Amino acid sequence: MANRDLFDLTGRNALVTGGGRGLGKAMATGLAQYGANIAIFDIDMETAQATAEELKALGVKALAMEGDVRREEDAQRAVNETVEALGSLDILLNNAGIATLGPAETLPVDDYQYVFDVDVKGVFLFSKAAFGPMSRQGRGNIISIASMAGISAPNPQKHTHYNAAKAAVIMMTKSLASEWAGHGIRVNALAPGYMITPPVIKMRAEDPEMWQQWMSRVPMGRAGEPPELQGAVIYLASDASSYMTGNIMVIDGGYTCW
Ligand SMILES: NC(=O)c1ccc[n+]([C@@H]2O[C@H](COP(=O)([O-])OP(=O)(O)OC[C@H]3O[C@@H](n4cnc5c(N)ncnc54)[C@H](O)[C@@H]3O)[C@@H](O)[C@H]2O)c1
Repeated sequence: MANRDLFDLTGRNALVTGGGRGLGKAMATGLAQYGANIAIFDIDMETAQATAEELKALGVKALAMEGDVRREEDAQRAVNETVEALGSLDILLNNAGIATLGPAETLPVDDYQYVFDVDVKGVFLFSKAAFGPMSRQGRGNIISIASMAGISAPNPQKHTHYNAAKAAVIMMTKSLASEWAGHGIRVNALAPGYMITPPVIKMRAEDPEMWQQWMSRVPMGRAGEPPELQGAVIYLASDASSYMTGNIMVIDGGYTCW
């Protein structure tokens, strides 16, 4: 029997939004370790370039692009440049996202708008732009980063607008999966729990008491390390998950179990 590696991504080309640091960087690294070439798109060009250099050292092609996921022209340009530089767009990882804290009754509407623009509109614009090359190829793979906060409202922190934005990412995933299955495009999402990335490290330092409360509600008793998402993203991006679409993979140390 042929020894086929279902997880092999050699020769596949991926575009990762917000891939300069945090979860995006860790997942881009996982994809590259399995052979994928990577285009990093980030609003922070310095981190995007540094990450692209690290990925090249793994033996794949990598490039960095600067832009804002909230702008349709940036999404179109990023997709075009990826196809031009790498030859195709096989995997889109919609990772860029932000969270702000604040009680709903006093939240400035600008905060609400900012979070929805980055976390929801950004995913929509990049998915829309990716549809062109992916539908012409007759295959493509879109993975969006939602959150456990789109499934159940974490407590005691207040960010109703963020929870609602991530719930929107979950429904967008299911809707696009249904709309685009006939074009050979699979669309899935990851819903991480608390993960150790720069914004979470900042919150832990600012409010250690809240951090203790958070951890006491995670059955595994700890936050996740960014590389702990690599297995899931490689699975979703590869032929190992060829019959999976519209799925939300929850990786939260058990937070949403109870
Ligand atoms: N860290 C967690 O605990 C956690 C949990 C669940 C979901 N998430 C989600 O994971 C994703 C990554 O989060 P992270 O914790 O790694 O955050 P992070 O702040 O470390 O990384 C986010 C990256 O996105 C980039 N970015 C921000 N706004 C952008 C924009 N408008 N256009 C382009 N790039 C932009 C940033 O420059 C940064 O490189 C987000 O969607 C977040 O909501 C994180």
